[in-house]
Amino acid sequence: MTDQLILGIESSCDETAAAIVRNGCEPLSSIVYSQIAEHAAWGGVVPEIAGRSHLRAIVPAIDEAMREAGCVAQDLAGIAVTARPGLLGSLLVGVTAAKSLAWAWDKPLIPVHHIEAHIYAALMSVEHWQFPYITLVVSGGHTSLYRTDSPLQHSLLGATRDDAAGEALDKAAAMLELGYPGGPAIQEAAADGDSRAFEFKRPMLDRDSLEFSFSGMKTALLYKLKGPGGKRTDPTLPESDDLSGMAASFETAVMDTLIRKCLRAAKMHGIPRVLIGGGVACNRRLRTMMAEKAGKARAEAIFARPEHCTDNAVMIAGLGHARLQAGETADLQLDVAAS
Ligand code: KG4
Ligand code: ZN
Repeated sequence: MTDQLILGIESSCDETAAAIVRNGCEPLSSIVYSQIAEHAAWGGVVPEIAGRSHLRAIVPAIDEAMREAGCVAQDLAGIAVTARPGLLGSLLVGVTAAKSLAWAWDKPLIPVHHIEAHIYAALMSVEHWQFPYITLVVSGGHTSLYRTDSPLQHSLLGATRDDAAGEALDKAAAMLELGYPGGPAIQEAAADGDSRAFEFKRPMLDRDSLEFSFSGMKTALLYKLKGPGGKRTDPTLPESDDLSGMAASFETAVMDTLIRKCLRAAKMHGIPRVLIGGGVACNRRLRTMMAEKAGKARAEAIFARPEHCTDNAVMIAGLGHARLQAGETADLQLDVAAS
């Protein structure tokens, strides 16, 4: 079989990314332009700013990905792009770029679902696939558990009822004035903290459910800072020891909940193999705790490589290859969808 090179394009949230991947598994280039600095002052992603920033960055990102891979249009087997879910204005920039190139270069246009791409990122760190897997996608926008039967087949087992885990970490970091994005900031603040310094109840563990809820934990943190009812208007942040203990306790509560649900799903479905992807999957405490608890549960836990956890285009090109092989391409009427 001749090599198939796919150009992947990602612009669903606050990263403009382009990559070339060979045969669905070998990245030849990966360019990620992060907009973090542009959104930091606002404490979160501002859709208007994101859309405009993608517009400036998309052509340079694609150019650089092609150049770095030493690749020209004729070498490509197809162009894969995130078409959903995400911010509409942001998705439109990537999809419009992909359509234009597919038309100009006469290449197949391959629409990709962003969450399925996060799962594919985890599959990329497995040498020999052994389906089915229990899969956790945990990011700023999503916290969902699936049963994965192939790169293209996922059945939802449970999802968050309110905040995504990354969103909860981002909001907690804002309350603790640790900066944005919150996940890495909490991780750093928590590094030397006592994870048992503060009590955070793990929600929804007493049922059989595979759903998540993080808003209660966030409110508990608010009350710890602002007193009962969260009414105190002059919250004094804890001293540094307490602050690192609070960050560590909160981070541990979030990660512990994720791990317990994953391993519960593995047990309930008799599938002792768990894949984990999405931005929060970068988290060091999650990786260490999961390795330990999965070992005890006789399950195998596989994480996406850290550089493939946060938004990137390698995972888009990778899944694009699988979709192209299955004949799942789109015409130039391709639309975007927020959910
Ligand atoms: O996958 P991603 O880049 O974007 C979405 O699809 O949402 O995930 C971003 C999320 C943010 O909430 C960020 O705080 C979190 O991933 N994150 C982390 C870490 N790095 C990024 N959370 C915990 N620990 C980290 N090291
Ligand atoms: Zn993502």
